[in-house]
Amino acid sequence: MIGRNFRFFGITLKAVGWIALSATGQSVTQPPANTVTPPVSRPELNPQVKHRNELFIALMKRRRLACAGHSPSDHATQLLSKLSSGEVKLDNKDQRSLTRSLLAALDVPVSSQLLVFSGSASQGLNVNPKNPRAIYFNDEVYVGIVPGGLLEMIGVDANIGGVPYTFQNVGTGRTPTTTGGTECMRCHSGQQSGFAPGFLTRSFVPNDNGLMLGTQPPGNEGHERPLGRRFGGWFVTSARPDIFGKAGLVARTEEANPRQVIGYKTTHPGQLYDSKIHLAESSDILANLLHEHQIGFHNRVARVLMSASDDGCQDGERVFPTHAQDIAELVAYMLFRNEAALPEDGIVGDPGFIKDFSRNRRAAKSGAALKDLDLTKRLLKHRCTYMIYTRPWLEMPSRVKDKIYAKLHSALLGADDTGSHLPAAERREIVQILSETLPDLPSAWK
Ligand code: HEC
Repeated sequence: MIGRNFRFFGITLKAVGWIALSATGQSVTQPPANTVTPPVSRPELNPQVKHRNELFIALMKRRRLACAGHSPSDHATQLLSKLSSGEVKLDNKDQRSLTRSLLAALDVPVSSQLLVFSGSASQGLNVNPKNPRAIYFNDEVYVGIVPGGLLEMIGVDANIGGVPYTFQNVGTGRTPTTTGGTECMRCHSGQQSGFAPGFLTRSFVPNDNGLMLGTQPPGNEGHERPLGRRFGGWFVTSARPDIFGKAGLVARTEEANPRQVIGYKTTHPGQLYDSKIHLAESSDILANLLHEHQIGFHNRVARVLMSASDDGCQDGERVFPTHAQDIAELVAYMLFRNEAALPEDGIVGDPGFIKDFSRNRRAAKSGAALKDLDLTKRLLKHRCTYMIYTRPWLEMPSRVKDKIYAKLHSALLGADDTGSHLPAAERREIVQILSETLPDLPSAWK
């Protein structure tokens, strides 16, 4: 199904990896062969949306993948092929059993659960403080579930970015099938990821019905966001209200005019609903902070890939003018240059989550690892992201990755300003950890 032409906003493109797949490998958006689709007249798009769509299509067209027809090889897609071959079986007795067995099959810990109750996502109408959506994640895959609504997941492909899926026939006892596709890109391919398939967190304080109130500047997901502006519409377990003021906040609004706020109240997980609707009760503060870090990382990598040269495309080779800047921003982000400072007296993460998070930590001979947590004033002890060990990173095209490694190396050696926020000893420690634990580092590092 990958590599065929498909129509998107009225323009025919070669397929990109995230176009609809089912667990059986069949495309679900393709019309049957020989079907002639009559032209549909569409209302004129608002100029801003039209511009965004055109930009997105232009960017996708310029990408090597959009031309070469690349099959995604992310964690989620791989699981689906194992499901269709029968190598993996999921318990599809009901939505809860399916979620539990899906998480186990993807090696996503239940302790990573986050709870979001603002209706900011595709299933917004079903999400509110009485029916929060749960999100689970590890370093490479993200699962979202709305009780009584949809079960969704997004894997991360080294070339494409996020690869989204939605599960069908949930709770039927049969092998679940999936679809994925362009409708997710309405939100997931915005400015935050350079219009590539990416990730989101939003921060809106909603009312009792989940209605989002106020506006939020677009994009820029990640650990640089000021703490006081995060987590509107999210439950955050053990978040100090003086620092994370928006967490758990629900607006009281006038019945006749639901946009008119007359006050606020704070709610906690399980207060307005039976917490058994989810697999756990928590929405741990540390899990929330690390989720935000990871999302920001994926989106910045996606931007770098978007602006990279497209040697396989008809348009010819071309590097977007923002490419060097995108790389510099990614490297600064990887080294936590503008990380929003955590409270002086630190935060305390759930021990169960910390244990699960640390499972795949890779230690250097000294015992130090990039997954070592600090949690006073900052997230990590050695400020370089552990996402550098993930498969999407390792599989990134080397023509792009080598440039990132070169910039990272010069930042860590102090040859440019990007790592100047880190003490020299911390930079040396990071170089040591990376050179002992990361197999694909260029020889200049050794
Ligand atoms: C209307 C906008 C919108 C659409 C359309 C949308 N999403 Fe999202 N999605 C969000 C927002 C906003 C979040 C952040 C969490 C939240 O607010 O619920 C999110 C988060 C997620 C997450 C958790 C990882 C992350 O990015 O934080 C998954 C998984 C996900 N969405 C899957 C999907 C899939 C699959 C589709 C298509 C079937 C889809 N979404 C369509 C807005 C959208």
